[in-house]
Amino acid sequence: MGAELRDNRVNESDKSGKREKCHDQNETEPAAQQQPSKKRNRKEIAIFGNYRHYYGYRVGQDLDEDPRLNAMKREWFEGKDCLDIGCNSGLVTISIAKKFGCQSIVGVDIDGARVEDANWTLRKIIRTDMHKVTSKTPGVANGLENSATKSRDENISDSPHLPEKDLQKIVSFEKGNFVLNWHPPANKSYHAILCLSVTKWIHLNWGDDGVIKLFAKVWTLLQPGGVFIVEPQPWTSYYKNRLVSDTAAANYQNIQIPPEDFQDILLDKIGFRTVENITSSLSGSKSGFARPILAFWK
Ligand SMILES: C[S@@+](CC[C@H](N)C(=O)[O-])C[C@H]1O[C@@H](n2cnc3c(N)ncnc32)[C@H](O)[C@@H]1O
Repeated sequence: MGAELRDNRVNESDKSGKREKCHDQNETEPAAQQQPSKKRNRKEIAIFGNYRHYYGYRVGQDLDEDPRLNAMKREWFEGKDCLDIGCNSGLVTISIAKKFGCQSIVGVDIDGARVEDANWTLRKIIRTDMHKVTSKTPGVANGLENSATKSRDENISDSPHLPEKDLQKIVSFEKGNFVLNWHPPANKSYHAILCLSVTKWIHLNWGDDGVIKLFAKVWTLLQPGGVFIVEPQPWTSYYKNRLVSDTAAANYQNIQIPPEDFQDILLDKIGFRTVENITSSLSGSKSGFARPILAFWK
């Protein structure tokens, strides 16, 4: 099936224009702040998917929390050391820590600006929670709220599961390219590793080799019995991002491993024991993000 998909893709790319039908119409992405494109439009281009205000788009204002958390189980995280690859501005990372009570969780992102956002969000949530505890006055302190994230931050803050004083010790963020140059402390391993909506960006920037390195590194860093939770973007969504850079354009043409093959690779080549599609319990995601989320056990 993978080979068939690859063949179709190559044929279609030869017939420029016909590829449009392949484009996932549902997957629109927010404006981003990485590098301005030259002439085509005024949108800023996020070559790593490092969108600013990602969560303003991803999580609807009417939702309590990122709906993907509803697909995840407390026992995967509670009292566990966790890693979130491609954490962006940290909302999912912090939410998981609070909702499920991790022992520790580190969010890694290639974009230092997103890591700064994540640290800012963490400080704000801690400050807000402390303010709530001391004054019993709901709301966000000091008028610093970002309108795109305000309601979600408040919802994270409302989570009852974690004593606020611990959050700073539990959650941390680091800048790094997970594939090429991020390393955990010596001998560190994790019970749970998340990689949500990141594989496309690794694929476009570092090709098939990058994806294989990602999976192999995750395997190495996971403890036996640990879980790898991955939300791969579908191949159809690559088309609209293939021109974010010359590198992406070249890699797009050369990709031989479509995301639809990731499951087989993780099981048959990397060595994961078993997989579960945890998306069936998902509800409430905004249009365009109904992607399967897979949990692989080492
Ligand atoms: C589309 S966002 C997804 C954010 C988050 N995981 C989620 O699903 O809510 C992709 C993130 O992955 C980060 N990223 C891309 N390539 C990366 C790499 N090689 N190492 C670390 N982070 C990376 C980007 O900077 C961006 O913040």
